[in-house]
Amino acid sequence: MENLSDTSTIQALEDQYTSGVYTKRPVAIVRGLGAHLWDAEGREYIDCAGGQGTANLGHANPAVAKAIADQAQVLISCPEMFYNDRRAELEQKLVTLTGMGRVFLCNSGAEAVESALKFARLLTGRTEIVATMRGFHGRTMGALSATWEKKYREPFEPLIPGFTHIPYNDQEALSAAVTDKTAAVILEVVQGEGGVRPGDPAYLRLAQELCRTRGALLIIDEVQTGFGRTGRLFAHQHFGLEPDLLCLAKSIAGGLPMGAALIHSKFGPLPQQVHGSTFGGNPLACAASLATLEYIEENHLPERAAELGEWFMGALARIESPLIREVRGLGLIVGIELKQKVTPYLQALMAEGVMALPAGLTVMRFLPPLVITKDDLSIVVEKVTKVLEG
Ligand SMILES: Cc1ncc(COP(=O)(O)O)c(C=O)c1O
Repeated sequence: MENLSDTSTIQALEDQYTSGVYTKRPVAIVRGLGAHLWDAEGREYIDCAGGQGTANLGHANPAVAKAIADQAQVLISCPEMFYNDRRAELEQKLVTLTGMGRVFLCNSGAEAVESALKFARLLTGRTEIVATMRGFHGRTMGALSATWEKKYREPFEPLIPGFTHIPYNDQEALSAAVTDKTAAVILEVVQGEGGVRPGDPAYLRLAQELCRTRGALLIIDEVQTGFGRTGRLFAHQHFGLEPDLLCLAKSIAGGLPMGAALIHSKFGPLPQQVHGSTFGGNPLACAASLATLEYIEENHLPERAAELGEWFMGALARIESPLIREVRGLGLIVGIELKQKVTPYLQALMAEGVMALPAGLTVMRFLPPLVITKDDLSIVVEKVTKVLEG
């Protein structure tokens, strides 16, 4: 066993054996606590990457860690050919919290989207899907067909037929695209990867209305915006939307891999055998998710995200820099659109001890754990100011 106590050794080993599909930063993260991360050399960072949205509850959250440890000693796996106590409890909880009717449990965001797309075809008998430009829904073949970005799609074409991409927040384009052949419209309430672009309330409501009147289903993808991130438990609740299918993942199980496609109660159960997943609904992830939901509720994380997000966005908007085009977001999903490519500024920010994400080529994206303190956010504002003011 090699001594993996420094970044360069860890980096060399990963570089030798990893698939190569990821762009990596030259830093090895070995520990986290709350909204803080530490690298192999012991350097500390304020984490505004938030595990790409999986760490809403903060790293090493004691409630989640305990639930995982306890459940691991009782039962880790239990395929859905059997019933299970933790799964039963979680399904009921998710339905209660969302107002949906039924749940399909899986293991990632892409799988949740993939499931929703299949269910939409099954439930409508139609095959066409309307998606949006700058939309991101994952990398499996169905989810990728709904994703817009050319560099993710092109190497794998031909993708699944029947998908069209229309400009986001464009009511006219939406009205023209939804027809009596449309199985579903798939939308993010705030486009995350596509540049932190909040949906216009009238546009989102029109999408729902058009789906209802033209017999299509509304798939809301809350993989990134769910579990308190935007200031409500789910972002669509800001706008009184009632999705037919709702995709969840990322922070659903406190950082453990899990996804879910929720199905509106008007549909009843789906036919047996049409879909499935060996790991889906495993008791370990279900226990982690139950602890996560309880923690979110008890600690009022959506309210916290709303309050801190408003303050944070306001503070960022006051930075005077010729590099900034716009600051936008909802709750604690926040983006700064620059007039230049963002990568060097993210690197400079990391050197200052703050981790943040890109969203497209020019947007700096912040997805801090919702447990982050205002003091930490103040430091982030100070560091962003330093980096962008030069
Ligand atoms: C809105 C949205 N949908 C789907 C996905 C895909 O999730 P995963 O990477 O877990 O497959 C992502 C990932 O970033 C996302 O932001």
